Amino acid sequence: MCGIVGYVGRRQAGPVLLNCLGKLEYRGYDSCGIAVSSGDLVVYKDAIRVKALAETLPRSIEGKAGIGHTRWATHGEPSQVNAHPHCDCTGRIAVVHNGVISNFQKLREQLSGEGHHFVSETDTEVIPHLIEKYYAGDLAKAVELALGEVEGSYAIAVLMSGESRLVVARKDSPLIIGIGDRENFIASDVPAILDYTSQVLYLEDGDIGVVTPGGVEVSQHGKVVRRERHTISWTVEDAQKGGYEHFMLKEIHEQPKVIRDTIGGYVSAAEPPAHLATMGDISLEEILILACGTSYHAALIGKYLMEELFKVAVRAELASEFSYSGRASSVSRAIVITQSGETADALKAIRKLKGEGCQVIVITNVVGSTASRLADQTVYTRAGPEISVAATKSFIAQLMALYWLALPYAKIDIRRLDGLVMELRQLPGKVQRVLDSEATISEYARQLARCEDVFFIGRGINFPVALEGALKLKEISYIHAEGYAAGELKHGPFALLGRETPVVAIVAQDNTYEAMLTSIKEVKARHSPVLALAEEGDEVVGEVADSVITLPRVDALFSPVLNAVALQLLAYYTARERGCPIDFPRNLAKSVTVE
Ligand code: G6P
Repeated sequence: MCGIVGYVGRRQAGPVLLNCLGKLEYRGYDSCGIAVSSGDLVVYKDAIRVKALAETLPRSIEGKAGIGHTRWATHGEPSQVNAHPHCDCTGRIAVVHNGVISNFQKLREQLSGEGHHFVSETDTEVIPHLIEKYYAGDLAKAVELALGEVEGSYAIAVLMSGESRLVVARKDSPLIIGIGDRENFIASDVPAILDYTSQVLYLEDGDIGVVTPGGVEVSQHGKVVRRERHTISWTVEDAQKGGYEHFMLKEIHEQPKVIRDTIGGYVSAAEPPAHLATMGDISLEEILILACGTSYHAALIGKYLMEELFKVAVRAELASEFSYSGRASSVSRAIVITQSGETADALKAIRKLKGEGCQVIVITNVVGSTASRLADQTVYTRAGPEISVAATKSFIAQLMALYWLALPYAKIDIRRLDGLVMELRQLPGKVQRVLDSEATISEYARQLARCEDVFFIGRGINFPVALEGALKLKEISYIHAEGYAAGELKHGPFALLGRETPVVAIVAQDNTYEAMLTSIKEVKARHSPVLALAEEGDEVVGEVADSVITLPRVDALFSPVLNAVALQLLAYYTARERGCPIDFPRNLAKSVTVE
């Protein structure tokens, strides 16, 4: 998804911008560009990778102020002309933009009628032309007037020739300002600027900021406002590969630590289990969980978990569909899960819920994200920066947050609760054991890599894990994969089974066990090879399935964690075998900030 960077300070802006843009690559993009103020404005952009852009630049671009962008096409194909920055008619004003200008057609016609000449198909291009129209010596004022005409969402950075300052603004799209020593930075998110500073300001909706080497002035409706400075705990190393071939593999391997870090704040090793931290008085009469993508699979697992522990109905819905439902949510409290905290559909759902007077608890990995600022309460996962587009450690951290939300309210016997808390503490070690079986899993992946279609099946709390296993495989290996509730396979997908179509079956030691064995036998009768995930000590599964990935014993409520980690490794090694660009799959973005 589009990413913005900017720099003003004591260094040459070009290399800083390129370095920052490189750190935003993980968000997904198809084009990139920079503009530097060196007397005149110089703009370099194309539908190429950041590294390729760097190679096409002249050796030295003089100029200590600049802006840059990675574009994920929405209006107009990826091309040189559609790439950002976009300029006004005079070529003196350059703009980078993240978001969607919904009334751009009308503005474009209006501006064209006034003599403005457009070269791209983008919605963004109206912004520099509007700024040009309103410019009368004060760039910040012109930006304010221009944005007064704009509808939709935006984070923008504006650079003018000859100026050593940037004007920035945000509405419904993320933008942060990094504070340095006689230099300042702007970026869509934290990893972009970690090489330079850990001090940031988060802009609020409606803010306009003027960023100079020596300071930042933020205003709302013409009045200066104060935005608090935050220190980022993520380190440069967190956002580097650390010797792993891909970010995804590194992030998979970080999961024991992520579990420890995320539950560390909740479950103290020194305290008796009953001393769980809680979120206070949460009404459990009615619970709604909303999310998109992998986070939605965490939401579904949360649903099964809470229904089991609370004995009440829990709804898990797609945030992207929720906004279109004609009915009110009819809950007083909802949980929204979004690792980035910026997914447009999740934010829209939060706003709808709040509009209905509902209290919203957000589970997110990003401090200061829009979702966290809209929420009534935020549960932060402690996964650290996740760079690979395919979510792994952020998903496992979301599950930890859900366990934490659920356990203190469980209507279960205290001994069972003690047992679950004990298991929670042992999870990092058990996940490590799954990681230790990497070599075996990669052998199975080698076989899977030759297939064109794969089904994943599970039941109960592991049905969402089947969905997640299929999603991981399809997004990074480009193999067609579908996750199914095992009982549903016979209602259609059976028609597709055969020797060439393997089925990955998740077998948990809970009330679904016997039914899963039956499902495996039914699949085998259609000649599909079955790879089962089962607990160690389970002798029966090996007799019905063709091969088995053996996982440590665990309470079935935690089995999604171990199964998901095994399926992440399976997807990773399958994609690797097929030579796919694992961290940056085609057409996908890390944080989907448009609807
Ligand atoms: C994108 C990412 C997924 C993620 C989904 C929801 O599609 O590629 O990994 O699960 O967005 O993102 P969120 O930040 O809301 O969890």
